[in-house]
Amino acid sequence: MQHKLKKIKQDIINELERTNTLDQLEDIYNRYFSRNSGRLTQLSKDIKKVATDQKPVVGRLLNQIKKEAEQMFAQAKQDINRHSGHDANEADFFDPTLPALGPKPGNLHILTKMQYEIEDIFRQLGFIVADGPLLESDWYNFEALNIPADHPARDMQDTFYVAETLKHKNTDAQKKPKLVMRTHTSNVQVRAMEKYGVPIRCIAPGRVYRNEATDARHEHTFYQIEGLMVGENISVANLKSVIDNMIKAILGEKFKTRIRPGFFSFVEPGLEVDMSCSLCRGRGCRVCKHTGWVELMGAGMVHPNVLKAAKVNPDKYSGFAFGFGLERLAMIRYNIDDIRLFHSGDLRFLHQL
Ligand code: FA5
Repeated sequence: MQHKLKKIKQDIINELERTNTLDQLEDIYNRYFSRNSGRLTQLSKDIKKVATDQKPVVGRLLNQIKKEAEQMFAQAKQDINRHSGHDANEADFFDPTLPALGPKPGNLHILTKMQYEIEDIFRQLGFIVADGPLLESDWYNFEALNIPADHPARDMQDTFYVAETLKHKNTDAQKKPKLVMRTHTSNVQVRAMEKYGVPIRCIAPGRVYRNEATDARHEHTFYQIEGLMVGENISVANLKSVIDNMIKAILGEKFKTRIRPGFFSFVEPGLEVDMSCSLCRGRGCRVCKHTGWVELMGAGMVHPNVLKAAKVNPDKYSGFAFGFGLERLAMIRYNIDDIRLFHSGDLRFLHQL
């Protein structure tokens, strides 16, 4: 029996060496493994005739040879496929004429892409894109925006103060020459009016900093986009129309906005703009606390004191301003449930969007 098994193994080796088509291979396979007449199947049946003390040895040898035979057939099949150009395993195929694989190209960060997209929308509405420093004087970040040092409104934006002082042209700032990491992009409001004069339409995108305890919706470093439009006879209706335009362009026609009172000392009246909840489409769910609306941004009509700080006559000019969080808008657009993903540097997240 043992002799027969060894002979079968050698026969299989010899036959496979001469085989070069899948049809031949199938024939040979059946000759050894077919259920009724296969040579190996037959030997499995004959094992009951072997002397009892020999059964374990012969059984083990039989199983081993069957296993080896299966492997030899699988290998032979792969070799035939490869030679005939029908390799089932594509990964093994190597074409030396193909150009070398270069490094995987990178992509813009999702926030950068959205910022560019929003800039384009506002450019079409006649807005310019203004810029301002990240390390800012207390004057432009707070005082010029009608937030004096002792005003409780400062508590709304817990701030990173910087020890260094700034030699500033403005006399008020010289008296209080503190530097802060800007807490909002509203610092650009007075700067833009000084630089470009009025009438003006601008947006100011950029990074802002707050001494925040972070959670799924709060970062200490995040992006805002400020909007400012100052001219003659500008009203809340202009604000609503501009924001509606942006929301529909970014999120789709079905989204609505609503305006309600809010407090910011640099606007009067102060407003909060909400948009219809993206998850329940206004029907009410847990995310929108069953109101159908989610908070989108702070806004309002520019306070006369802010216009005065920029040397603009509040009797002649009026305007609106707004500011929203870019991450928050991206979270709504892409259903992202944790703001910390944006700046985590996790490539699995960054390559998705
Ligand atoms: C402001 O920062 C005002 N400067 C907005 C403004 C501009 C009002 C012009 C009036 C006129 P607020 O602190 O609410 O407001 O922030 C504005 C938006 O920034 C919020 O609606 C939210 O979208 C985003 N935001 C605020 N804090 C955080 C934070 N910690 N992490 C991520 N996004 C935030």
